[in-house]
Amino acid sequence: MEKLNGKKINTAIFISGRGSNLNSLINHFKKKNSKLLIKLVVSSNPKARGLIYAKKSKIKTYISNTKEKKYSEKMLLNKIINQKIDLVCLAGFMKILSKKFIRKFKKPILNIHPSLLPKYKGLNTHKKVIENKDKFSGSTVHRVSSKLDSGKIILQKKIKVSKNDNEKSLEKKILKIEHKLYPKAIEKFLS
Ligand code: GRF
Repeated sequence: MEKLNGKKINTAIFISGRGSNLNSLINHFKKKNSKLLIKLVVSSNPKARGLIYAKKSKIKTYISNTKEKKYSEKMLLNKIINQKIDLVCLAGFMKILSKKFIRKFKKPILNIHPSLLPKYKGLNTHKKVIENKDKFSGSTVHRVSSKLDSGKIILQKKIKVSKNDNEKSLEKKILKIEHKLYPKAIEKFLS
């Protein structure tokens, strides 16, 4: 990522729900000497629980849920350009950004996906792991490209799936590792 001459990297985090990854990113990057400034939290859902974390930390929020996708994305793009956002991190954002949005933003977009990519792109990853009796699962932080969950991998963390695991317990285990993995991957990406 291009260096910004000692200036902080203005970052927007996009969420849709619980926001536990947002919370861990806020806690990690609030350090004084952090290279990154979380300037904006975008939610596709006005009722997302995760918005609480933004409000607690006095981070600006923006709701992007206009019905017409094209219009919604256009407004969102204007917003992040106006806010001089240098980096977007998706954290449980349930909308798929269009190719046009990705191209027009021009700056990097990262995502965290709860599987060992390239295995299990898309939804219901934990369900698939349990059904297929996989021995391992994990989480991946990657660049967002125009193909779903297919951009360059930045960092991946693997965990063992135990015989007693079900979808819920696996989700819990993976979330726990994600809270460390995402900040670490962002640091790596910025270094
Ligand atoms: C995480 O498991 C993330 O990998 C996936 O969506 C989930 C979001 O959880 N993309 P939260 O909203 O951060 O708690």
